[in-house]
Amino acid sequence: MTNFFNWWVIVISLGNIFACYWLIKWTMKKRPQETEVGESTGHAWDGVEELNNPLPKWWLWLFYITIVFALVYLVLFPGLGNYKGVLGWSSASEYNEEVADSKAKYDPIFEAFSKTSVADLAKDAKAVKAGERLFGSYCSQCHGSDAKGTTGYPNLTDNDWLYGGEPDAIKQTIMMGRNGIMPAFAGPLDDKGIENVANYVQSLSGRKVDAASAEAGKATFQAMCVACHGADAKGNKFLGSANLTDTTWLYGGSAGAIKKTIAKGRSGKMPAHKDFLGEDKVHLLAAYIYSLSN
Ligand code: HEC
Ligand code: HEC
Repeated sequence: MTNFFNWWVIVISLGNIFACYWLIKWTMKKRPQETEVGESTGHAWDGVEELNNPLPKWWLWLFYITIVFALVYLVLFPGLGNYKGVLGWSSASEYNEEVADSKAKYDPIFEAFSKTSVADLAKDAKAVKAGERLFGSYCSQCHGSDAKGTTGYPNLTDNDWLYGGEPDAIKQTIMMGRNGIMPAFAGPLDDKGIENVANYVQSLSGRKVDAASAEAGKATFQAMCVACHGADAKGNKFLGSANLTDTTWLYGGSAGAIKKTIAKGRSGKMPAHKDFLGEDKVHLLAAYIYSLSN
């Protein structure tokens, strides 16, 4: 905060409080033209007459107490510009304390779970429940609360894996993240070439397509695609290149979606969670994911 706004806040805050005090004193002061205490002021509406009575004592005291409260509050807590208050309270320090409290409470629980293997934890109902709760907080925004994913975000319940479904592979995925890179072929291939290879890809999962076109696409596939997808087109778990022979599609299995994938390329990014969550929580999450398909 610049010094100008520092003083701006201080002057307005204190000015308001002192103005309240002054207002009450000013209204209590007797002015010469006024009537005596208890007499009518001459104002009357519908038979109700205004008398010149002092403000009730209890009301006055309440008013003074609020003024004192405001001043004490401004001494103890931050409120006056840059002044931090004698208690040193801040919303950030309160947040940090709460985080430290919950770490002290929950970390030992996660640590205890981390001593059991992922495969065994996946059979432990309590661990799976805890993992499910973590999944709801940290993963469901991308993979869905049922972990079934959506276009571009893999289904984690179907035992069909880009990067492998063994406990270690799942844990590695969550710890370090993944980034599949399917290059765009709109340059190297013309529309016809893309159409052909897309037809070949569709024929791999048993679809009826133009046989001549698929045959032409097969040659392209062997030249340009097998390096990543494998000669059998079943994918490579080190690259996360999808299996193209099944009916599970990360980016959609319609002819249009497949052509778009080949023409424009795709790059799914699974963020790394090692630093953010710590290994113990990732271990529990891996057990939950493993339990979904085992
Ligand atoms: C920002 C979105 C996002 C978040 C958050 C996210 N993921 Fe992912 N996840 C992805 C994407 C995208 C992929 C696919 C990566 C690819 O296509 O190469 C993926 C892939 C995976 C895979 C690999 C699936 C396979 O078939 O091999 C697993 C396991 C996984 N995520 C688990 C998790 C868990 C557990 C969490 C929570 C800690 C999580 N993800 C949070 C986007 C996300
Ligand atoms: C450099 C390696 C690489 C090459 C070369 C490559 N791909 Fe891919 N492909 C991938 C990866 C990795 C993915 C998964 C992308 C992701 O997870 O975001 C993928 C995904 C796909 C998909 C989407 C699958 C789905 O489930 O939605 C199709 C279709 C595909 N590739 C077809 C091809 C074709 C056809 C060629 C050759 C013209 C080709 N790929 C060449 C690495 C490659």
